[in-house]
Amino acid sequence: MLEIQNLNKSFGPFKALNNLSLSVNDGELFGFVGANGAGKTTTMKICVGLEKADNGSIMIDGIQALDSKGRSSLRGKVGYVPDFFGVYADLTASEYLHFFAGSYNIWGKEADTLTDNLLELVNLSDKANEQVDSLSRGMKQKLCVARALVQNPKILFLDEPASGLDPKARHELKEILRNLSSMGKTIIISSHILPELIEMCSSIGIINHGEMKFNGSIEDALALSTGGEFIEITFSGDPGRALSLIRECPFVTCADLTSKGIRLTASGSDAEYTALLKKLITNDIPVATFSKNHENVEDIFLNIMEGGNANAENNA
Ligand SMILES: Nc1ncnc2c1ncn2[C@@H]1O[C@H](COP(=O)(O)OP(=O)(O)OP(=O)(O)O)[C@@H](O)[C@H]1O
Ligand SMILES: [Mg+2]
Repeated sequence: MLEIQNLNKSFGPFKALNNLSLSVNDGELFGFVGANGAGKTTTMKICVGLEKADNGSIMIDGIQALDSKGRSSLRGKVGYVPDFFGVYADLTASEYLHFFAGSYNIWGKEADTLTDNLLELVNLSDKANEQVDSLSRGMKQKLCVARALVQNPKILFLDEPASGLDPKARHELKEILRNLSSMGKTIIISSHILPELIEMCSSIGIINHGEMKFNGSIEDALALSTGGEFIEITFSGDPGRALSLIRECPFVTCADLTSKGIRLTASGSDAEYTALLKKLITNDIPVATFSKNHENVEDIFLNIMEGGNANAENNA
């Protein structure tokens, strides 16, 4: 559905996008993740025709989005929810959607039905006759999603749609997006909060300084974790010789002091971990807790971003 290849964009001497490539399959809910300034908004704006690329290729539903002919034939197929709200004219929520319906040549009864359906989809039916300016941020955000759906697009770009929303509104937005996804739409959603995307997306792209570091399924991203499992030991007093006792164990591959205590990666069996704990206790080490943990998604995300170690197939 979306195939970006070697996309470049500079602002003066600054290279915002550097040979960026990514692909998103039909019907996918795709999370576009990266730190502030990574290039997410720039990529999306180029995809929807609001920013010009220096060079590269963007195929949307088989159409080249970077040439003007392709651009105009994509008009009804692409929806976009920007990261900042525009200024609203003095309109009610219903009038606002009617206005956009009109811009796609949808009028009269058809526009009435469409507006009612869209307001219902984003749970704003009871606000139909309220002034847009009087709606809360979350409600405006949902109205923007409804607006982007007026032309029944095949692909929807949402730039940080959850920012500034409270947990309840975030949850509601996720439900709306899942619902749209189940209707077969391809959805690209950007965020710098990975766990939020992981919950709902089927695949992700990780961008850093204008370069794609990873493009693939959530499972593939999680599989890039460095083994994932580690033991964390905390102490109720001075850990003393704990670190050297731990490092003596043949199954311990790495052990380091952390702000909490000692973190070690190891390939031991449960029996070996029991023996290690016993060894620490018999050496009068004041162990407070001894627990097996998994690398969390933020750790994995940072590793991929900083290391750029995605496998050859996925590394765009
Ligand atoms: N119009 C512009 N003129 C100059 N530089 C720009 C312009 N637009 C974006 N940039 C720069 O390009 C880089 C990428 O910006 P972009 O807005 O795409 O990042 P982002 O990933 O969306 O970040 P955020 O998470 O903060 O929204 C940034 O360094 C930004 O300063
Ligand atoms: Mg942005």
